[in-house]
Parts: sequence; structure tokens; C-alpha cells
Amino acid sequence: MHKAPRSRLVTDRARLGHKMRYALSHPRRVLPYLRRAGRDCWLRLRHRGSHIAYYRAVMASDTARSPEAAVGGRPSHARWLAIGEMQYDYLVRHGLKPQDRMLEIGCGNLRAGWRFIGHLEPGHYYGIDISPDILVEAKKTVVRYGLQDKLPYLTPVDNLTLDFLPGSFFTVVHAHSVFSHSPLEVIDECLAHVGRVLAPGGWFDFTYDRTEGSEHQVLGEDFYYRTETLIQLAEKHGLAARHMEDWEQLPHGQSKLRITHRAAAAPPDARTTEETS
Ligand SMILES: C[S@@+](CC[C@H](N)C(=O)[O-])C[C@H]1O[C@@H](n2cnc3c(N)ncnc32)[C@H](O)[C@@H]1O
Repeated sequence: MHKAPRSRLVTDRARLGHKMRYALSHPRRVLPYLRRAGRDCWLRLRHRGSHIAYYRAVMASDTARSPEAAVGGRPSHARWLAIGEMQYDYLVRHGLKPQDRMLEIGCGNLRAGWRFIGHLEPGHYYGIDISPDILVEAKKTVVRYGLQDKLPYLTPVDNLTLDFLPGSFFTVVHAHSVFSHSPLEVIDECLAHVGRVLAPGGWFDFTYDRTEGSEHQVLGEDFYYRTETLIQLAEKHGLAARHMEDWEQLPHGQSKLRITHRAAAAPPDARTTEETS
């Protein structure tokens, strides 16, 4: 199942020992890390008790410095383009059609979104994000790529209950590098509600940072989960989850799960049994 080296998958990045070893082998990253840790500590204090408010403040600060780096870590336009293209190519390879109705959760500044919008029929792309600052940048991306006639929806949210969206509507739901920044209760909330908006036969793909060691987080920004944890969470909400092996071949450090309604995931025989029972 894994392409990533095993040592990477069992590393606990929150442990002091790991941080010391990392600092010794990457001395130039120590000062930026300390600056970030200081800022995050201050923002956590200001937004105590609400991960969403805290992360929205992180995004505001990161976006002010560089919108492209805010969604991808490194301030490189080439990388922004490449990661967006990777997401787009993958979904098109998996059958994303112009007629699909797509919801992108955590759409950022449309790194992949501008390509989805271009591919889909007008009004078929819906992007949501907790950060108003990055959505302003998303709007600029729509203008830069001349996508006004595609009429994309871009909406700020403060939770993932998806309560303002229609039921059984979206054929494709996508969340790239969002749950890698989310505590489990946020993922739980999303999985509790995404089944309602997912059209019959639709699918929800999300990436996450996978660990095979202990689950941990760094600075309240980066979260590492075991695959079983997320699969069990999906099952708790009556959904099926499948690890996407072909995503592992791509040069991107995260893993991907595909969520469907349980009936859609069942093999044809089982489906017949379920439907007739
Ligand atoms: C690393 S960026 C990735 C953006 C985009 N998916 C991409 O691939 O370029 C993560 C994005 O998810 C948003 N985000 C984080 N938590 C979220 C949540 N609970 N609900 C909606 N958006 C969220 C952030 O504001 C940010 O824009």
C-alpha cells in the first residue's frame, strides 16, 4: 500500500527528539520554525477553544505574505501550478466530466480549482473555505484565468455541516490538503454531513497526512492520522472509505481516501442482496 519510506510513516514530528535531530540536519529552517511557532502560540491564545478561528487567523497571516505559499508551504509559482495540475489530472483520469457537480472543500486560492472550473459546465463548481482572505485571492484567480462566464460559487464557511447546500446534489466532492490541517472533530463533522449532499453514485476524495505510528499534530497546523482511524470514522457515519493506491505513486507526501455511500461501494452481488433485503 505504501510508497513513502517506512521511517517517514512512523516518525512522530511532535517529539522533542525528532525536532532536535531535524534542527541539526536543517539548521537554516530553525529560525523560520521558531518564528512560526511563536506566531502560532500567540494566535492559539487569541482564539482559544476554536480550531477554525485559529486556523483562519493562520491563513490570514500566511495569505498576507504569499497567497501561493499559504496553500502550499513553498512560495513557488511552478509548484502551485504543478500541485493543482496533479489534483486535476487525477480526477479527470478517474472520470470527472464537464456535467459533474463539484464541491471543493478548502478550495484555497483555486490552485486546482481554476482547472476544475474551466473543465466543468457553468455553475457546476462550488468552492468553500474557512478563510475569507484566501477566497479574495480565489476571486483574483478567476479573473486571472478569465473564468467569469463559468460562474463558480465561492463561499466562506465556519463549519463543515454543509447545511446551506442541497441534498443528493454533488457528484464529486474534493478536499486536498485540508484534513492534513484539521483536528479529528472537524473531519468527523464533515463525514457526518457529506453523505447528505453527495449524489447517489458520487464520491468524496480527500488527502491526509498518514502515519503508521502514533497519531500526532504539530503547532495545531499539521495533523497525522492512521488510515484505520479515518476509515472507521467514515463507517461510523454510514459511508465506505477506500484507500487510493494509485495516488501513492504521485510525488505528493499525502495519502488519499475515497468516500462513497455504502451501497455504491458494495460489489454488484452484495448490492443486489442489500437492495432486495
Ligand atoms: C493547504 S490549503 C489547500 C488549498 C486547496 N485545497 C489547494 O489544494 O490548493 C488548505 C485550505 O483549506 C482551508 N481549510 C482548512 N480547514 C478548513 C475547514 N475546516 N473547512 C474549510 N476549509 C478549510 C484553508 O483555509 C486553506 O485554504
